[in-house]
Amino acid sequence: MDVIEGKFFIDGEIKTASIGIENGKIVKIAKNLTGEKFYSIEEGTIFPSMIDIHVHMRDPGFTWKEDFESGTLSALHGGVTFILDMPNTKPPVDSIENFRTKLKIASKKSYIDYGIAYLLQKKEEKYVQNEVTSFKIYMSETTNIKPVNYLLIPEIVSDIEKNITVHAELQDCIDNNKRESKDLIMHDMSRPESCEVSAVRYLGDIRGPKFHIAHVSSPDTVDLSKIFGFTTEVTPHHLFLNREMDLGAFGKVNPPLRSSFISERLRYLLSNGNIDVVSSDHSPHTLEEKSDFASAPSGLPGVETSLPLLFQAYRDSIFSLDTIVKVSMENPGKILKIPKGKIAPGYDADLIVVKLSDSRRIRSKDLHYKCGWTPFENLWGIFPRKVFIRGELALDNFEETIEPGFGLYYSGNR
Ligand code: NCD
Ligand code: ZN
Repeated sequence: MDVIEGKFFIDGEIKTASIGIENGKIVKIAKNLTGEKFYSIEEGTIFPSMIDIHVHMRDPGFTWKEDFESGTLSALHGGVTFILDMPNTKPPVDSIENFRTKLKIASKKSYIDYGIAYLLQKKEEKYVQNEVTSFKIYMSETTNIKPVNYLLIPEIVSDIEKNITVHAELQDCIDNNKRESKDLIMHDMSRPESCEVSAVRYLGDIRGPKFHIAHVSSPDTVDLSKIFGFTTEVTPHHLFLNREMDLGAFGKVNPPLRSSFISERLRYLLSNGNIDVVSSDHSPHTLEEKSDFASAPSGLPGVETSLPLLFQAYRDSIFSLDTIVKVSMENPGKILKIPKGKIAPGYDADLIVVKLSDSRRIRSKDLHYKCGWTPFENLWGIFPRKVFIRGELALDNFEETIEPGFGLYYSGNR
């Protein structure tokens, strides 16, 4: 048995304890334990690491923007040890062959553990469901994706038992609001909140699955999702950035950044437990692609900065540690049914050591993205000093200590 001792954040409290680890899993929590490998953490608090259930690693097909190696290295430095990769790659993950191709790539390149989401466009065979981690439905057009005909959704989801994440913006509504968009305010007007609300209202009429609504950008969507029993996620860019900021195309994303008033409302809804998950929707595009607003693709990088921004928001008295642990660790683990996201026996020993006085400014030159920029430049963040994945030290004193290929695939079949 290996042992880590230190101050752990468990059940909403900081407790001095030792945890025993066997085969990568927490087997015991006690006051004092002895073990073969022994880590005594003197500085900082130990939390579960983040599970980011919405990232685009761009691999295969768009590896000049990011790939599994650079993207998961970035994740590791941001305290994320599990990602769910989205299917809008080239080829898209819309067949079991394409799924297996991506799995092979990820198994060679990924530093951290991962799941793979499958693009749901038609009724799928039962076996697909056993192999993939999760499903994704796009109700609107986006990078490399055509929307599904929403009238088909009731039929195609009818047998699915695994999580279904929906990009919920109604394409008809977007078409009705089409305009030339030259800045963030016009981009917001071209894909208004009402398109998100209409999409979720439509999903609410479908019997069966409890959908997971990706990147909510409207408080009304949150309220409606609650009524329907759906889970929701919000991104750090919708929480901490807004359309009034001078970001140009570096703030162009779908769904769009809204007003500062709306982002404040989203922070409030997260802090009082009405939003289930924070995920990054890490969607890198190159500096060159982002050079002209009208033609720039939508999407912002964020997998390395989500947790640092949340811990900073704790220091700024915006979120409690309890909220942060629920929305970035416990709840995403539950949604995917993976044994991660909690410091408890039976869970993977995926842990981060964070010193809550470690605030530093976020600078793109310190991040590990291929794209070389962040929309959060100059904001403050608190990065983890150490990261453990399945009990192995993976990052020590802000430096990675593992190699690509360390990460394992999780299908969520328990
Ligand atoms: C995403 C991308 O670039 O892959 N862009 C975005 O603005 N969020 C696709 C998506 O999730 O819509
Ligand atoms: Zn996305």
